[in-house]
Amino acid sequence: MADKDGLKIAKDYHVSEPFANMGGSYIKGAAGLDWGMRKHLSHIFDPKSGNTVMFAFDHGYFMGSTAGLERLDIVVPKLMPYIDCLMGTRGALRTCIPAENRKAVALRVSSGSSMLNDDLSHEVVAVDIEDAIRMNADCMAVQTFIGADGQLQSLDNLSRVINAGFKYSIPTLGVVAVGKDMERTDRYFKLATRIIAEMGVQMVKTYYCDNFEEVVAACPVPIVVAGGKKLPEAEALTMAYRSIQGGARGLDMGRNIFQSDHAVEMAQAIGKIVHEGFTDKEALEFYQDAIH
Ligand code: R5P
Repeated sequence: MADKDGLKIAKDYHVSEPFANMGGSYIKGAAGLDWGMRKHLSHIFDPKSGNTVMFAFDHGYFMGSTAGLERLDIVVPKLMPYIDCLMGTRGALRTCIPAENRKAVALRVSSGSSMLNDDLSHEVVAVDIEDAIRMNADCMAVQTFIGADGQLQSLDNLSRVINAGFKYSIPTLGVVAVGKDMERTDRYFKLATRIIAEMGVQMVKTYYCDNFEEVVAACPVPIVVAGGKKLPEAEALTMAYRSIQGGARGLDMGRNIFQSDHAVEMAQAIGKIVHEGFTDKEALEFYQDAIH
């Protein structure tokens, strides 16, 4: 086992210096990737802003029917004009979302737990690469439990998906999972995002935290910020703004959009921050004007 005694605390993140190895790509960490991977990533990250609005509606994979997502076939299509990427399960996508659309797809491929388990950290790879190819997925999302009981299984799942993804040029999105007893600090997110990035993913989903710009600086692939539990709209917009200011390349938001009383306007307001440089205050004004 590696000697953990006397480890120095990492502290010099050069947050004001841009990533040094862009290599002609507008996507962080993509310089060494092949054409197919870069093409998929360009479907997810808007070439103009470099950012993405992902709409997460994959909750059913462990929560079943979720408040606000009772009817995927009605809810999701209404929001599609205002988002860049659909994050869902193959079951939801195939049954409820018309194939005739031009949105990127982040396909949830890990599964194995449910709200009835105390420990959600034991998952398997539930979707094989051939099905991801058939669905024309632009990335495959794997829940990753660092520091949890299921860490080994989780990293094994992640590795299998990354290996298959490299074989067929489909990016992998590593999703940092945070159990109810796990800390939500920059110390933890630096550890988790960096481990996941060094496993070989092309993008990471994690949570916003204090010192977020250091989390971003230390992660060599784009970070998209998870929405998390429903917040008042003003707070969710501030979290989105701070995430983008801190270097996130997008938001992957579910409940803070679909559980809003005005989901369409909320998705639009998030898009203003992500793509148009709106502040949280400006986005809130936009939202309030739009709902009245
Ligand atoms: C969490 O990371 C999972 O992927 C979710 O099922 C989902 O994407 C969460 O979205 P939100 O927390 O924004 O509702």
